[in-house]
Amino acid sequence: MNTNLMIIHAAALTTSRGSEAQAGKAMDALEVIPDGALRIEEGTITAVGSTAEITAGGPADGFTVIDAGGKAVVPGFVDSHTHFIFGGYRADEFAWRLQGMSYMQIMAQGGGIASTVAATRQTDLETLVERGRRCLDAMLSFGVTTVEGKSGYGLDRETEIRQLEAMAILDREHPLEIVPTYLGAHAIPGEFKNRGDAYLDDIMATVLPEVASRRLAEFCDVFCEDHVFSVAQSRRLLSRAKALGLKLTLHADEIVALGGAELAAELGAVSADHLLQASDAGIQGLAEAGVVATLLPITAFGLKEPYARGRYMIDQGCAVALATDFNPGSCFSNSIPLLMALATLHMGLSPEEALTAITLNGAAAIDRADRVGSLEVGKQGDAVILEYPSHRFIPYHLGVNIVEKVVKQGRLVFDKAQGGRVEDA
Ligand code: NIG
Ligand code: FE
Repeated sequence: MNTNLMIIHAAALTTSRGSEAQAGKAMDALEVIPDGALRIEEGTITAVGSTAEITAGGPADGFTVIDAGGKAVVPGFVDSHTHFIFGGYRADEFAWRLQGMSYMQIMAQGGGIASTVAATRQTDLETLVERGRRCLDAMLSFGVTTVEGKSGYGLDRETEIRQLEAMAILDREHPLEIVPTYLGAHAIPGEFKNRGDAYLDDIMATVLPEVASRRLAEFCDVFCEDHVFSVAQSRRLLSRAKALGLKLTLHADEIVALGGAELAAELGAVSADHLLQASDAGIQGLAEAGVVATLLPITAFGLKEPYARGRYMIDQGCAVALATDFNPGSCFSNSIPLLMALATLHMGLSPEEALTAITLNGAAAIDRADRVGSLEVGKQGDAVILEYPSHRFIPYHLGVNIVEKVVKQGRLVFDKAQGGRVEDA
C-alpha cells in the first residue's frame, strides 16, 4: 500500500504549529500557505511549503498526487473525548428531556448511564466491534483521524474489558487511530447502590490494575460530579491510576461547580473536560498547570445547559480543546461542523482558535501533540481537504459537512467523490 503522497495546489494549507498545546493568544495564530503543498513519505510528513517549492524536484515518481486546487487543506481532526462503544440507544430519554426532565433526574430514576450499562452488558464483543466500526466510519467522513474512546458502560470487569478490547480490535483494523480510556468510575453500578467508596475500592483492587498491566487503556477518567463521584473519591481513584502509569483526564464541573478543574490541576491531569461550571480559580489552575481545557459544546446544546466559558478560558491563558463527547445519552452527535459552529457562535472562539482546538490542542488533550494535530515535518501525514478555500467555511457553513477527502498517514481513506470510505488499493 502506497503511503507516499503529495497534496498540491491547496488554496490555503492551514495549520497550527507546535508539538504541544497552544495556550491563550497563541491559539489564534495559524500558518496559512497560499498555493500550498505537502509531501508525505511512508506515512510521515517530510515537506510543507508552496507548491512551487515542493514540486521543484521534478515529477514525483512513486507518489500518489492529489490536486487540491481551490480547496483548503487542514490537519486531520482529533476528537479527544468520546464514548463510542456502547449497546442500545436512548431516544426515549431525549423525548423525556424535551418534556422537562433533567439529565440528572433521569439518572436518579435508574435511566441515563445505567440504561446504557444494562444494554452494553448484553452486547457481545463482535457486535460492539461492528457498531464501533460504523461510528468510526462516520467520524472519518467528518475528517476525524484520531479519536479517544472510553469504557464506562460496563462497570463490571467483564464488560469494561470487552469495551476496551473492542477498541483495541478496531484500532488494528480501522484507519482511524484510537486512544483508549478506562472510565470504570462513570457511575455507581446497581450492585454497589449507595456504596460508591466500596465500588472504588473494588475496581482499584481488580480492574484498574489489570487495565494498567495489560495496557488496555492509556488514560483513566472519572465522572466527578454531585451524586456521582466526589472530589475526594475522584482524587483517590486518579492518584492510584497515576501510580499505575495511567495518564489522567476528568469529567469535571459539568452540572455543578464541584472543584473538578482544581483537582485536575492539583493532580497534573492531561485534560479536564466539560467545565461548564468551572470556577475562576479552577480555570486559573488549569492555565497554570498546563492542563488542556476540553470543551464539549454539543453536550451543553443538547442538554440546554449554559456553555463553558471558552473565551474567558483562552483569555486567562488556557489551552482549549474541542471534542464531540459522542455518546448515546447526553450527546448523540459526532458532528464536527455543529461543534465548530457552537464553539464560535456560543463560546466566543474565533474560527482560527476553533481549528487549533480541534487539531493540535485535541491532540495535546490525549498526549499526541508530538505526533498529530498539525501539518509539520515529522508529524503523521493526517490531513483533510475541504470543499471550500478556507477553514473559515467549517463554522460558517452551519452544520454542513464540507469534508471532501481525508488522508491518514499518507493514505487516502475517505473521498466524497468515490462515495465515502476508500479501502486499500
Ligand atoms: O460526558 N457526563 C457523563 N458522561 C457522559 C454522558 C454519558 C451518557 O449519558 O451516557 C458525558 O456527558
Ligand atoms: Fe463524556
